[in-house]
Amino acid sequence: MPFKQRILFLLLLSLILVPFRDQAPVYSQQRDTSDLGVASTTGVVVSASDLASDVGASILHKGGNAVDAAVATAFALAVTWPSAGNIGGGGFMVVRRPNGEAITIDYRETAPGKATPTMYLNAQGHIERGLTAAGYLAPGVPGTVRGLEMAHKKFGKLPWKDVVLPAVKLAEEGFIVSETMARGLNGQLAGEMGKFPASVAAYGKPGGGKWAAGDKIVLTDLGKTLRAIAVDGPDAFYKGWIADRIAEDMAANGGLISKADLAAYQAKLRTPVKGRYHDYEITAMPPPSSGGVALIEMLNILENFDLKKHDRFAPETLHLMIEAMRRAYLDRARFLGDPDFTDVPIAKLLSKDYAKTLAASINPAKASSSVELGKDIVTIAQVRESDETTHFSVIDKTGMAVTNTYTLEGGYGSRVVVKGAGFLLNNEMGDFNKKPGETNERGDIGTAPNLIAPGKRMLSSMTPAIVTRNGKPVLITGSPGGRTIINTVLCIILNVTEFGMTGRQAVDAARMHHQWLPDSTTIEEGAALEPALLRLKEMGHTIRQQGRQGDGNSIIVDEKTKVAYGVNDKRNGSSKASK
Ligand code: GLY
Repeated sequence: MPFKQRILFLLLLSLILVPFRDQAPVYSQQRDTSDLGVASTTGVVVSASDLASDVGASILHKGGNAVDAAVATAFALAVTWPSAGNIGGGGFMVVRRPNGEAITIDYRETAPGKATPTMYLNAQGHIERGLTAAGYLAPGVPGTVRGLEMAHKKFGKLPWKDVVLPAVKLAEEGFIVSETMARGLNGQLAGEMGKFPASVAAYGKPGGGKWAAGDKIVLTDLGKTLRAIAVDGPDAFYKGWIADRIAEDMAANGGLISKADLAAYQAKLRTPVKGRYHDYEITAMPPPSSGGVALIEMLNILENFDLKKHDRFAPETLHLMIEAMRRAYLDRARFLGDPDFTDVPIAKLLSKDYAKTLAASINPAKASSSVELGKDIVTIAQVRESDETTHFSVIDKTGMAVTNTYTLEGGYGSRVVVKGAGFLLNNEMGDFNKKPGETNERGDIGTAPNLIAPGKRMLSSMTPAIVTRNGKPVLITGSPGGRTIINTVLCIILNVTEFGMTGRQAVDAARMHHQWLPDSTTIEEGAALEPALLRLKEMGHTIRQQGRQGDGNSIIVDEKTKVAYGVNDKRNGSSKASK
């Protein structure tokens, strides 16, 4: 082609392409219609660990209901998924009966009786981050065993022993270590966990050396502890010899948890928070998780816009999502904490009128400033929360649904294994606001609602959620990921309810996170989003692609056929949907 014609051709081509400049290419897996997940009409369990999902499914086969399967899965994860599955941590469960009745179980950890608001500040008044990252001062009083007991007492059909014993068997007889677990344990043992002799005794490879995928691991002390919980009941943990071991270990190593703290611990039944997004109902976790409130607040804000007008990954859509995230996370910092210690204005935060005022404050073409929006609480002009935690979803043949997220906080929690009892303790105290009065651009929050106090539950972001339409379950979901959790769940819910994706597409699609401060957005790598990101930067956003976000093991139910599809999150190679 002669030179002049070639220039003309290129000019014409670029003119044709200009209208598409701002359209984000669709995330590659989004169009995959071949994989709908594991289909079942008799129930399905989806968790981070294939072994634990199989345990849950085996309980369904034995005639257990969704809660029996959930309790068994949770105990199994404490063995097979030690980075976050636990009996030494805490979490939240939402249960929805087929008749529509829904309750939540709050088994969040509590601050020990001797905890103080400034216990993590050094002589210079700076936060000693190491103290909440690992070691004996990091754990809150564990809630998991009481929480699972409460769920089982209220809803379980099978005997308690039957739902705990599969985990005992896994610990006592051993199981095959996965690639993920081998990598995790080797890293931990060479790092923080290696500092604690009881942790090395529990998780070190017998005879020394590194774990490899395919090795067998036996967890003898954990098996003994789980057997006591199965046979003697949860009081063995809170009032019996296991409590003695925890208190002794704490006293010997400068920790705070006492026998009195353990004996006083109670799980709590709480009324779920509920919201509506177009014709879908959302049932989720109330405080002390910020998850349900922030999720519904974001959906309420977004309902004011015609999101479908643009592609799911168009800059216009991403902009509105970021602005909704910014506003909900600011309210999280302002208002949320343990409702037994602080007045949380839940009704206002969940109201459609309030969301309308927030939506009206969004400029469709320009990013807002987080500092400007929250200048009443920002005291200084970055801290990343750990992204460990684990989520599983269950549905049974009657349509009873369970969504459960629980955690040790960081991967392997405090890295402290209780001597003689074989289980890891959490480092959940780090989820409190550690420096009263200091809220900064790094993401530290120092507002009053989430300051440390004895017996108080630290604010969480865990967001186990159930979406229904016309009174029937449509989506059971949740995720790990620290403060990113709420946004991961938002993405999955929007993908299904607004953008009509299948469960697999919704779980696979790239996720995004903005948490008010730091004022920046991350979006997962792997999605070809450069043109959209360029446009967002022009609008004033700081945005970058990084890593992976969450592990959203979910279930989607076909409203017409009533078939449930278990969709494991492929970001985690050990996850599985079992039926
Ligand atoms: N530790 C994570 C959370 O509770 O949100």
